[in-house]
Amino acid sequence: MSPLYPSLIAADLLNLKEEITLLDPHVPGYHIDVMDFHFVPNMAMSPDLVNALRKATNKPFLVHLMVEYPERYFDRIHLRKGDIVSLHPEAPSKFSPKDLLEIIRQKGWTPSIALNPETSVSIIKELEPEHVLLMAVNPGFSGQRFMPLVYDKLKELKGYTVAIDGGVDKDNARKLIEAGADQLVVGSALFKDGDPLKTLQTIKDVLTN
Ligand code: DX5
Ligand code: ZN
Repeated sequence: MSPLYPSLIAADLLNLKEEITLLDPHVPGYHIDVMDFHFVPNMAMSPDLVNALRKATNKPFLVHLMVEYPERYFDRIHLRKGDIVSLHPEAPSKFSPKDLLEIIRQKGWTPSIALNPETSVSIIKELEPEHVLLMAVNPGFSGQRFMPLVYDKLKELKGYTVAIDGGVDKDNARKLIEAGADQLVVGSALFKDGDPLKTLQTIKDVLTN
């Protein structure tokens, strides 16, 4: 299976079920962006929508919480065992990042830290999450320009399971995997031409040839 995880905020929002049905046999899982208009200047994917999506596929989810007080979401979203939940350690919370990771673990989900472009890798070494969501853009919007600074961070993250989020396309996918990325989140590059299956195949070809 390829390492390409479609980011569903970039999909056709009026046809999410059709997009999932089309992609499902060809992807390892989906990336779900949750935004609250406080932690980031945008809003996306309410808990009810996440839950509806969760029923539409059996594939794993990579849920990216770009929200203040992430703990408020834990009882509202109904994920499957092993689904990955990424938190931003900068987000205000009643709990410490370490405690939030432990709460996620207790839920049977896989805890992950989302690392902003300006945030140092040292926080990962301190928190020891099971997964890292390495941001190649500032969180908040799909369709932003890829920041190559992730290549140096990938070197420092050897030994961790790392997903790259933001600006992934056919031109950087292979280099990212060769640099040590395990998973690639693909939003606008996958959906913007209106033929995600064909574009998915194009990126898969780049990875294998
Ligand atoms: C950005 C989101 C990303 C975004 C990726 O805040 O976290 O997941 O959906 O979209 P692209 O691939 O278009 O950068
Ligand atoms: Zn994301």
